[in-house]
Amino acid sequence: MFLDWLPNIHPLIIHAPIVLIPLGFLVHLICLLLKKGEEWKIPIGILYSASLLGVLAAFLSGRQAGDSVTIHPQANLVLSEHADLALWTLGISVIVTTLYWSWIRIRMWSGMPWVILTLSLVNIGSMILTADHGGQLVYRFGTGVSLRVEKEIIAKPVQSAPAVISNSDGSWTWDAKMETGEKHFTSFHFIEGEAENIISESKKSGYYSLTEPVTFLWDKTETDIQMDVQLDVKSFKGKVVLFHHFKSLDQYDFLEISGDEISLGRIVNGKREVMDTEKNNNGDWNRYRVISSGRHYKGFMNEKLVVHGHGSILDPGRVGLRLNGSGTIGLLSIKTISISND
Ligand code: HEM
Repeated sequence: MFLDWLPNIHPLIIHAPIVLIPLGFLVHLICLLLKKGEEWKIPIGILYSASLLGVLAAFLSGRQAGDSVTIHPQANLVLSEHADLALWTLGISVIVTTLYWSWIRIRMWSGMPWVILTLSLVNIGSMILTADHGGQLVYRFGTGVSLRVEKEIIAKPVQSAPAVISNSDGSWTWDAKMETGEKHFTSFHFIEGEAENIISESKKSGYYSLTEPVTFLWDKTETDIQMDVQLDVKSFKGKVVLFHHFKSLDQYDFLEISGDEISLGRIVNGKREVMDTEKNNNGDWNRYRVISSGRHYKGFMNEKLVVHGHGSILDPGRVGLRLNGSGTIGLLSIKTISISND
């Protein structure tokens, strides 16, 4: 059917602000230079209002697009910057339009049209940067298109530690099936409990029972990351925490999974701050993902975005897992990818 190949309506809508923001500026500038500002005061106001509506529609459709399309891990940082720049464009558009209509009504100061015009010029810059990042999403990372555009760089994998494969780009994967000895998880650094507290079920690969809570991490600091974990928490009473930006047990970001809930949040000075919560379904194996890129934090279940939050950017920290509960937990793999803007 017509347009059914389009992943979302964002690419259709963005052309409105891209045209209207510069048009509003140009018409306003020409009218001021030709001293026709009075005659054209309403059309200029309509142009500013229309570009504000266009930016708002682009912003809202962009949020919907960002939450629904598949994003290449390395594109997450560009997406976060794109969304932040879009927020600036929206904010400046609100100020320009409000100032313009207020000035038409009150006429407080004769220099005001030039202030509005300057802000409108700044907004063109902000919009160009926003669109540049949007273009990168599509033409550099192939976001929302059927074929990937950028050639995949195949990193050379090496087995760097027991059951862990590391790549030269900093990504690594722990795989339960590669654990051979009695004691599993020996590649990780334990800050609570120890590897002996996670007992492998001899009959089922990837299933473990816990004797006490454990917290273990990978000994490398990361800034922006994607972390994927395959879990079965059906028979586990407690919580599994995927954490990143870990500084201490009093300071880290988390995606917390229990039998019935998924929460995204941050521990600050030992205090828990929840950004978003969603119901978890109690199926067997599920794939959970946490992404930290800039000030954007996301949690996925089986590739579907379920929780989304924003927070200040923290200093780089470690990534790892906390298993706190009793019963049998299924943990097949842990995979992290460092996200960078190169
Ligand atoms: C002022 C508001 C915005 C403008 C002007 C804008 C502009 C653009 C542009 C020019 C593209 C490239 C389209 C193409 O070449 O096909 C794009 C793509 C994209 N933008 Fe935005 N954008 C805005 C807001 C947002 C927001 C707030 C988000 C999400 C948080 C977002 C997410 C995306 C995504 C995911 C794409 C990839 C293509 C797609 O799936 O639609 N945008 N944007």
